Amino acid sequence: MRTIIRNGTVVREGERISADVLTENGTIRRIAPQIDEPADREIDATGCYVLPGFIDTHTHLDLDLTNTVTADNFETGTRAAIVGGTTTVLDFATQDRGMTLQEALDKWHRKADGKSSCNYGFHMAMSEWNEARKAEIDAMIAQGVTSFKMYMVYPAMRVTDGQIYDALHFMERKDCIVGVHCENYDLLNARIRELHEAGRFDPMAHAESRPDAVEAAGVSTLMKTAELAEAPAWVVHVSCEASLDEMETARGRGVEVYAETCPQYLVLDIAQYREPDAEKYIMSPPLRYAHDREALLNALADGSIDFIGTDHCSFTMAQKALGNGDFAGVPNGGAGIQNRAELVYTAAVRSGIISIEKMAALLSENAARIFGMYPKKGVLSEGSDADIVVFDPNVPHTISWKTNLHNCDNSPFEGMPVLGKTRDVLLGGELVVENGTLIKPHCGQYVFRGPSARPRK
Ligand code: URP
Ligand code: ZN
Ligand code: ZN
Repeated sequence: MRTIIRNGTVVREGERISADVLTENGTIRRIAPQIDEPADREIDATGCYVLPGFIDTHTHLDLDLTNTVTADNFETGTRAAIVGGTTTVLDFATQDRGMTLQEALDKWHRKADGKSSCNYGFHMAMSEWNEARKAEIDAMIAQGVTSFKMYMVYPAMRVTDGQIYDALHFMERKDCIVGVHCENYDLLNARIRELHEAGRFDPMAHAESRPDAVEAAGVSTLMKTAELAEAPAWVVHVSCEASLDEMETARGRGVEVYAETCPQYLVLDIAQYREPDAEKYIMSPPLRYAHDREALLNALADGSIDFIGTDHCSFTMAQKALGNGDFAGVPNGGAGIQNRAELVYTAAVRSGIISIEKMAALLSENAARIFGMYPKKGVLSEGSDADIVVFDPNVPHTISWKTNLHNCDNSPFEGMPVLGKTRDVLLGGELVVENGTLIKPHCGQYVFRGPSARPRK
């Protein structure tokens, strides 16, 4: 099967060129100003960007919590992802206490295999770190899992600083990378207690319970831990200026830190917790202030943020009501898997903060390198996988959960006007999204990942 994408602006590794792209049997065969070869299908990309398929570094699909399961599973989450131009999600396979890593990985394969409309790989989120879990790491690597996550918070998942230290050190020698959810657990609990004692149970109290200092304290600890361990660290879902400052200071000391942020921290605001359906914004870290948004947008431009994931962890409003009026009981997380590219394009590219080349790096290339998928993924290059997005930068539209394909009756971005939309998507050379419609579901394949390339080393 041969497809030619004609007349687009092809964005690849820091440059944009007017070119045609020929794909054959799942890979990119040629990129050249004009390709005069026969093809089975031609796609006219006049006026559009042709971009490497986007990689979402942070999703929670079919994640079971103690009292509920995320609204989106691999069927519904990946159909929304692919329509938004995400051709690969890296989901958090999650090891509950008492489970082996292998059991968690097998469970996640059962959830995803055959049901996914975009490609998928797994980070392994670990709720324990001990000799038994350590002994499983080689087997994880042999199955294409080369990134791991640890939490400083959530009673069911949290590990100690000492365990994070030991894991960072161990993983460095395995060419793997560890992401950490950074918030100081004791400070957080003290603030929740104070707010409850003051009679505060409302959604705004969620943000007040975990202000920027709580996150930055966690980041500071992780920076010191990584320095001691002489290992890289990935800070997941960075939401505030104070955390950027901690990472900048640490980089000055030679710490190798990779930073991820999410669209919600670039475009939403703490004031949202005053809205009537504010539970939908209860996520951790919480939404912040204008100066944090500005600092994060600048960090996209100056390179201190490496990639952007969604942290898609969706719950219906009925699930959000499980908090029974107490912010501390509301399931944490929000929906966003479909809207990442259009939000970043609108907030960062159209506003003149970053170039389209930088957007390609933040949504695809950097993640492909750090998470062991480059150059098969993350770049439009001869020999790379033909995961390709045709993105029309001139389509105005309004985000709504009613038109999103996720399985959730709310969106944190409800009613937000955006400019730019994914028009067509090739997944492994197959046209799976045409004119914004998913025409070929369930074509997603498991992505077996190699060692982290660690570009900041
Ligand atoms: O609120 C969030 N972010 N929920 C998902 C789990 C996590 O902390 O990443
Ligand atoms: Zn987290
Ligand atoms: Zn998350």
